[in-house]
Amino acid sequence: MTAHRIARLFYGTVVQPSSLTRLEIARHAIVGVGHDGRVAFVRRNASLLQLEETLQHCHTDQVVRLKDSQFLLPGFVDTHIHASQYANAGNGLDLQLLDWLNEYTFPEEARFQDPAYAAQIYRRVVTHTLRTGTTCAAYFATIHKEATEKLVDVMRDMGQRGWVGKVCMNQNTPAWYRETPEQSVADTRHMIDHGDHVDVYHTAGLVEACVTPRFAPHCTADSMRKLGELAREEGARTAQSDPARGRTPIQSHLSENHGEIAWVRQLFPEASSYTDVYAQAGLLSPRTVMAHCVHLSQDERDMLRTSGTAVSHCAHSNFNIRSGVLNVRRLLDEGIKVSLGTDMSGGHSASMLDSIRGAIAASRMICIMEHERPRAQLSITETVYLATLGGIEAMGLQDRVGSLLTVGHEFDALLRSSSADPIGSAPATASGITPRKWYLDMLEKFLMCGDDRNILHVWVRGRRVAGAGDASA
Ligand code: GUN
Ligand code: FE
Repeated sequence: MTAHRIARLFYGTVVQPSSLTRLEIARHAIVGVGHDGRVAFVRRNASLLQLEETLQHCHTDQVVRLKDSQFLLPGFVDTHIHASQYANAGNGLDLQLLDWLNEYTFPEEARFQDPAYAAQIYRRVVTHTLRTGTTCAAYFATIHKEATEKLVDVMRDMGQRGWVGKVCMNQNTPAWYRETPEQSVADTRHMIDHGDHVDVYHTAGLVEACVTPRFAPHCTADSMRKLGELAREEGARTAQSDPARGRTPIQSHLSENHGEIAWVRQLFPEASSYTDVYAQAGLLSPRTVMAHCVHLSQDERDMLRTSGTAVSHCAHSNFNIRSGVLNVRRLLDEGIKVSLGTDMSGGHSASMLDSIRGAIAASRMICIMEHERPRAQLSITETVYLATLGGIEAMGLQDRVGSLLTVGHEFDALLRSSSADPIGSAPATASGITPRKWYLDMLEKFLMCGDDRNILHVWVRGRRVAGAGDASA
């Protein structure tokens, strides 16, 4: 092995989803992470002697030896969260979507006209999500450009990866929370240019500006078409300096609630469906994430599949404001990309552990509702994939991040540990249980019962950014 200068060397168990149905549990793994935040080398099934040999051949600032009850997991990816709704979390959820937006959401979002208020809330959101293991998040901000730039700054400072969307809203909203169609396009363009200037060491490309029409009812057809064009143009421009990118991310809401769907039909009579409104505007792409997608027709699902558009499944939000129960199995069977989102504050929690539990519960409800169809149930292997690598693939980042066992990948991870409260800790050990089964049980317990006390450390691109454990690790 050649001599490496590395920042951290890990020795222990790595739990790594590699596809929807494959979960590797690499025991006694050595993972070296370089000063550039990337995985420098990997060795599986290494003995203590081999660990000693490795340490002799590299200069490492720090060695992290995991206990048997600990494991590394790729960080969670929240593909749909409203950073600007943090103060509302848990409130107003007896209403349905359109009333909830008017009565609770818009008045709170309008407060972000004040950049100081925005900076304060955004710091709290990012602190909270990092602590609960979200290493990458696709955020909606508000219509305000200056406030939205605060969210970029906070993510850059605190070291969270993700997308930041300046929300575009230019029709059918209260006069006190609306912009013009021209402003939607000009301010989105400004955000994308701002994002290009983020090239400080350790943060290069960590945060991307995202084209974010809030949803079709709030945007004119012309403004959505211009946003689609902007995404294409800017994507082609960034491709010249960064071929791995080449596309500007896009996010919105789609087919969440029956009242919303009927409204879209009325507003856009020339479109064949809600999904077609976005398709005609050029907003469906391999880097587009659409939240909810609960009530799509076969034609609409086909449009998502052929365009490479990903779905963000936000189960708790769908329960809370009674939008529906998404059948994830059908989307997966049809080859549509699926990921998980918290949709805070439609979802009451900003923790991906809750989003995971919601997705599992939704899949079980589909089993019950659709006459005991057991295949609808998501397994732990499938769910942990959706919450990690599924999100990375939805956001089109799979060439650079998502695998702790792939040399060259940026190291975004969390270290799961037992805590004083055994409910989120190690499962009861039955005799004869295989090590793989023991780790699977521990993973299931973490996903179902764990909380931030079980997350000792969180790293994004090799930098420790949060965790309940000793910050010097
Ligand atoms: N549709 C348009 N805006 C929103 C929002 O803020 N939350 C949810 N859940 N759906 C939306
Ligand atoms: Fe949402």
